[in-house]
Amino acid sequence: MKNKLLIPKQIVTADSQNRILKNHAVEIIDGKIAGIVALKNFIISDYDGELLDYSRFTLIPGFIQTHIHLCQTLFRGFADDLELLDWLQKRIFPFENSHNKNSLKASVQLGLHDLLTGGTTTILDMGTLRHQEIIFEELIGSGMRAYAGNCMIDQNELYPELCESTDENLKSTYELAKVFHNSNNGKIKYGFAPRFVLSCSEKLLKETKEMMKDFPGSIFHTHSSENKKEVETVRQMTGKENVEYFDSIGLLDDHTVLAHCIHLKDKEINSLKNNSVRVAHCPSSNLKLGSGIANIPRYIKEGISVSLGADGAPCNNTLSAFNEMRISALIQKPIYGPTSMDALTVFRLATIEGAKALHLQNEIGSIEVGKKADLVLLDLEKTDQPIQLSDEQIYSSIVYSSGKSNVKAVFADGNLIVDNGKSIIYDEEELVSKAKDELNKLIERKR
Ligand code: GUN
Ligand code: FE
Repeated sequence: MKNKLLIPKQIVTADSQNRILKNHAVEIIDGKIAGIVALKNFIISDYDGELLDYSRFTLIPGFIQTHIHLCQTLFRGFADDLELLDWLQKRIFPFENSHNKNSLKASVQLGLHDLLTGGTTTILDMGTLRHQEIIFEELIGSGMRAYAGNCMIDQNELYPELCESTDENLKSTYELAKVFHNSNNGKIKYGFAPRFVLSCSEKLLKETKEMMKDFPGSIFHTHSSENKKEVETVRQMTGKENVEYFDSIGLLDDHTVLAHCIHLKDKEINSLKNNSVRVAHCPSSNLKLGSGIANIPRYIKEGISVSLGADGAPCNNTLSAFNEMRISALIQKPIYGPTSMDALTVFRLATIEGAKALHLQNEIGSIEVGKKADLVLLDLEKTDQPIQLSDEQIYSSIVYSSGKSNVKAVFADGNLIVDNGKSIIYDEEELVSKAKDELNKLIERKR
C-alpha cells in the first residue's frame, strides 16, 4: 500500500489530553497512523506518496458502537411504539425467526452501509440465532472492525419458534468462534452473545462463559436490566436482580459488555464497578421503547466503563452515533442539570471509551501514532454549524449540531471506504432494491 499524507483542517485526537491539532497532517502507512506531522516543518510538494487534501474538513477517530443488531436493520419502522417485551414478542422475534440467508445478507448490508457512512468503524454486534456466518462474511467484506457472534437462545416463552437446544447453541457457537475469532487479520473477534436472561438457561450462560477460555480476547455480550417487566421476571425466575444473578453465576468481569443497565440497585452498580464490567448505553432505544433512563453520570463518576450503541434499527430508528451522542447528553440534563454529560465527555464515550470497553484502546479510539487509521472527516463549515469554532465549540458542533450529512469521508485501516459522503463498498440504490425484495419475501414466509 502506498504511503498517504492526509491533510485536514484540524485533528480532534481524543487522546489523553484531548489535543486538537491545527496545521498538522496524518501519515498513513500500511493501514496505520505512522506519523502526525507539523506542516510548518514539511515541504508538502516533496512528499513521496499520495497527498489527500481535506483542508476544509475536521479529522476525528472513527466512532465505536458497543451494541448493535445488524440482523434487525431490515425491520426498521416495523415495530414502533411498543414496550420491549411486546416489541420482541409481536414483531422482532417473528421477524428474526423468518430470516433466511438472503434476507439476513440484505439486512446486514443495509446496516453496515448506514453505520459506515455515518462514521462508525467498529461495532459489537448481537448476531442472529441462525446463519451467523453470513454476518461474519459481510463484516469482512465491508471494512468494519467488529466483535460479533451468533445470538444464543435456548428458551423462549415469548416466541417459542425462535429457539434451539442448549447443546445446539453451544456447538454452533464453538464452531463459529473457531473459524471467526481473530479472523480477517484480527479485525474480527468473537463476541459471545446470549440474548438475555429470559431467553437463556443458566447452563447456557455458564457454559458460554466457560467456553470463552478457549478464545482469549473474546467478549461476553448480553442485555441486562432494560425494562421493568423484564427485571421483575428475572427476579421471579432467579430470586435475584439481573446483574446480581449474573454475578452469582460468575459471568461478570472486564470482558463482559452489558447493554442498557437501566434498572439497577446500588449493590448491582457496585458489582459492575468491582468486576470492571462494561456498560453499553443505548439512549435512543431506551427512550423509544419507554424503558427508562440509565444513571450514566453516576456510572461515569464511579469509574464504570460506559460506551454508546444505537441498538437495532427497529428500536431507534437510526444507527447514527451522532444521535446517540446527542441524546445521551440531552436526556440527563433535566435530571442532573445542564452541565452534566458535556459535549467532550460524550464525544469520548463514542470514541476512546468505546475502544477501552472492547480492550482495543491500543489500536483504535483516538488519533495517535501507531494506531489503526480508522478515521472520519467531517464538514463542520456548514450553515447548520456554529459559525466560529473555538476548540470547545468543535465538540459542541460534533455532538449537538452534526449528523450523517456532515460525514465527508471515512477510512478503515487507511482505506477510503466513504468518499464525498458516498459508500465505495455498496451501491445505495442496489441495496435498497435488494432489501425491498428480501423484505417482501420474508413477510410472505412469516405468514
Ligand atoms: N432484549 C433482548 N433482545 C433485545 C433486542 O433485540 N433489543 C433490545 N433493545 N433489547 C433486547
Ligand atoms: Fe439490543
